[in-house]
Amino acid sequence: MRTQYCGEVSARDIDQEVSLAGWVQRRRDHGGVLFIDLRDREGVVQVVFNPDAADTFKLAESLRNEFVISVRGVVRRRPDGTVNPNMRTGEVEVVGGALEVLNRADTPPFQLDEEDIGDDIRLRYRYVDLRRPVMQQRLRLRHAITRAVRGFLDDHGFIDVETPILTRATPEGARDYLVPSRTHPGNFFALPQSPQLFKQLLMMSGLDRYYQIVRCFRDEDLRADRQPEFTQIDIETSFLDEDAIIALMEAMMRKLFADTLSVKLPDPFPRLSYADAMARYGSDKPDLRIALELVEVGDLLAGVEFKVFAGPANDPAGRIAALRVPKGGKLSRKEIDDYTAFVARYGAKGLAYIKVNERAQGTGGLQSPILKFLPDAVVEQILERTGAADGDLVFFGADKARVVNDALGALRVRVGHDLGLVEDGWRPLWVVDFPMFEFDDETKRLYALHHPFTAPRVDDIAALERDPANAVSRAYDMVLNGTELGGGSIRIHRTDLQETVFRLLGIGDDEAREKFGFLLDALKYGAPPHGGIAFGLDRLVMLMAGATSIRDVMAFPKTQTAHCPLTDAPGRVPEQSLRELHLSVRKPPTAG
Ligand code: AMO
Ligand code: AMP
Repeated sequence: MRTQYCGEVSARDIDQEVSLAGWVQRRRDHGGVLFIDLRDREGVVQVVFNPDAADTFKLAESLRNEFVISVRGVVRRRPDGTVNPNMRTGEVEVVGGALEVLNRADTPPFQLDEEDIGDDIRLRYRYVDLRRPVMQQRLRLRHAITRAVRGFLDDHGFIDVETPILTRATPEGARDYLVPSRTHPGNFFALPQSPQLFKQLLMMSGLDRYYQIVRCFRDEDLRADRQPEFTQIDIETSFLDEDAIIALMEAMMRKLFADTLSVKLPDPFPRLSYADAMARYGSDKPDLRIALELVEVGDLLAGVEFKVFAGPANDPAGRIAALRVPKGGKLSRKEIDDYTAFVARYGAKGLAYIKVNERAQGTGGLQSPILKFLPDAVVEQILERTGAADGDLVFFGADKARVVNDALGALRVRVGHDLGLVEDGWRPLWVVDFPMFEFDDETKRLYALHHPFTAPRVDDIAALERDPANAVSRAYDMVLNGTELGGGSIRIHRTDLQETVFRLLGIGDDEAREKFGFLLDALKYGAPPHGGIAFGLDRLVMLMAGATSIRDVMAFPKTQTAHCPLTDAPGRVPEQSLRELHLSVRKPPTAG
């Protein structure tokens, strides 16, 4: 049906007859001559129909956008003055000889070059949306990335093994998608939140190096970088420590970026402890392209009377941090009010600030709603420590450390973008030395910061039980430009230690047996030291493609409410199916 792709027709083909097939991008009528922009996945070429061939011309006149056609014709150089340097095929055109309409098309729901098409309409007519060159490029980049990753892992002895989709719950911290069993009334499979336990079992099986590019399912609140089903590059190794795994994974990323984007990533990636990341950026996934940092000022404020500051300054769980914004003095009252509303979303009760002017004259040139509450000497010390200069503004957050970190961490990124303080380029890093556990004030329980199979730094069970709150784990996260790309850890490979960690997490022995008995058994039959990591493939592709949502790098994603506008899933099922699954049949709510 064709000799080449439309986008590949070039000056080399001049005077040759070519056959092409594709979609009508546009039809223009230029005083008796018809121009068709014919598109396929490789690009667009101009086809010209002259009235001398009356039948073909008549057929060409009937063409509309998105009709599927095939054309045979001779390639010629475009006449002087009509060459289009912005088009890959802009030097040439095809003189339409034979034309066949392979399929007609209704008027598409949106034009391919239309901007600001609503997400719902894009997803509902995804097959039209995916014809857009930008979407095709993204899917092809995704393919190039998975290919490069597979190549690297194959070269390093990793074996691709598939793991079950119908399985038991693994606790990655989200809600499970459940599948009712027909053959075991009242029982459910869970779709995997990750293959975590299976990959550990593969290490116990002696595979030594496993990988899988695998779908994971989590029923959680969705955001731009979260989907109910997403893909991990999932990896596990035996007999390697965290430094070896980190080195290997960095090498993979460096090769991936070099091969697919011609980008040179640093060697090695910088590492930051969790504590430092929180102290300096208020986040465990800091965007290092933004130079702004939080500065501790609580110690300077312990003695002040101003309650907003005195409270957190004297609370062991409190924090007061300052964020200097260079040239922030030009922020208007309205802009500061907007930022105050922004940090309120993270629980902040206010956003104190000082605008700095005439530093040389002491505190006289400062503008601030809190100045009247603070002794001059304290203000001087704060400005000194933050390095604030004339024209700058300093924001303050004072609250429980968690609120301050969330609020000022997010504000740092927001202000960085608003004021154009985000550097170009790629700033990967590792965040390490995570706490093992997080204490939840409401439930009064410990939670695993990574997951319950992560090994603590100490191998001494008694030491762990004595002070779990301060235990450091052997987990590591790879962060790129403010996105958590991947996380992993060295795992527990001893039964007694695993049982202890379950107990510390409030998982009783019976529950541990019931849920994870197979793991506890496997640990007894020769489990090697092992560890691994999983990367979010969608997030990686999103960053590399310069997209702002992982939806833009998935062929058929779901909406924010976990709905597929294309297939209208999830959908109702016949009552008979529910009965077979031993689910009680509920009448759908009646309208009105
Ligand atoms: P974790 O839960 O950190 O670790 O997940 C690993 C990576 O998967 C990506 N990710 C997501 N991407 C899109 N949508 C989601 N809903 C979503 N949730 C997670 C992130 C994240 O860094 N089994 C462990 C890994 C291990 O220990 O080896 C795990 O799944 O990029
Ligand atoms: P108030 O006395 O509550 O009006 O607050 C005086 C200033 O302190 C205002 O600019 C508030 O935005 C700010 N402020 C109040 N609570 C906090 C807080 N928890 N952290 C930072 N600033 C605050």
